[in-house]
Amino acid sequence: MVSGSPPEQTSRPADANVDVHRGRDDLRNYARGKRVIVSARNVSRVYKVGAETVHALRDVSVDIYAGEYVSIMGPSGSGKSTLFNQVGGLDHPTAGTVEVQDVLVSQLSRTQQARFRNYCIGYIFQSYNLIPVMSATDNVALPIILGGTPVDQAKTRAAELLDAVGLGNRLDHRPDELSGGQQQRVAIARSFANDPEIILADEPTGNLDTHTGEEIIDKLSGLSREKGTTIITATHDHKMLSVSDRVVSITDGSIAKIELRSQLNIQVGTIESRPTDPGPDGDRGEAAQ
Ligand SMILES: Nc1ncnc2c1ncn2[C@@H]1O[C@H](COP(=O)(O)OP(=O)(O)O)[C@@H](O)[C@H]1O
Ligand SMILES: [Mg+2]
Repeated sequence: MVSGSPPEQTSRPADANVDVHRGRDDLRNYARGKRVIVSARNVSRVYKVGAETVHALRDVSVDIYAGEYVSIMGPSGSGKSTLFNQVGGLDHPTAGTVEVQDVLVSQLSRTQQARFRNYCIGYIFQSYNLIPVMSATDNVALPIILGGTPVDQAKTRAAELLDAVGLGNRLDHRPDELSGGQQQRVAIARSFANDPEIILADEPTGNLDTHTGEEIIDKLSGLSREKGTTIITATHDHKMLSVSDRVVSITDGSIAKIELRSQLNIQVGTIESRPTDPGPDGDRGEAAQ
């Protein structure tokens, strides 16, 4: 999967989720038979900017199970993207470890991280991040070609993926010839290019209107169900919660709570913690952001 000497393995405590999970028995039932695919342990990330020190992540530990759809909720600046960068191999933590599919990503070199990202992770960004001079097909085909597939085959697969997100009639369009929602659908198709087990979607609906955002969530959750892909989204979009299996709330770089969908009260445009089920940190009655 990743070249070079195999990264050192960590021994993983039985379940990192239990400490901050509301309803531990519910979690045990939920976790039964599931495989841990992402395991973050005591992850901290400190940025130094001039004389200032920013604690973007503080001692974060969480397990994600294969095939889950997990939303990381939290206000702007709470550390969501920083956490994604650790899981997706775009950064190294200041302390702690991140293991993804038995690879110790936090310990990989930059070159190993790049290979890991291309094969193991699909990334979707709020701002789409497509290559402006390339057609939709070429944008999706590029990571397949980088993986060593001949160009013709890669383009055929790219066209199939674009068709699956409803863009079969926009194959030759460049990003500036597509709407925001269409560009994000290209980004979804690209994220599935190498059939990754994990997709990281960092506020994928942040730049879209409500209706288009819902279409994007439908496409993403539909494809993940079909292929069994693990989806981790960062969001403060409450629409995403209805398709999430679990919601991890992050505040000021720390995990405040983790809830199963069944533990959330989801109403249109709002979400509240279930009042009858106080978590280990007590029910502070705050909305999961
Ligand atoms: N490269 C960086 N250099 C310095 N500070 C950063 C950097 N990236 C993020 N931060 C800071 O870390 C904190 C968490 O940021 P981020 O993970 O982007 O939050 P979110 O994605 O939840 O909005 C913020 O205070 C942000 O200003
Ligand atoms: Mg962010």
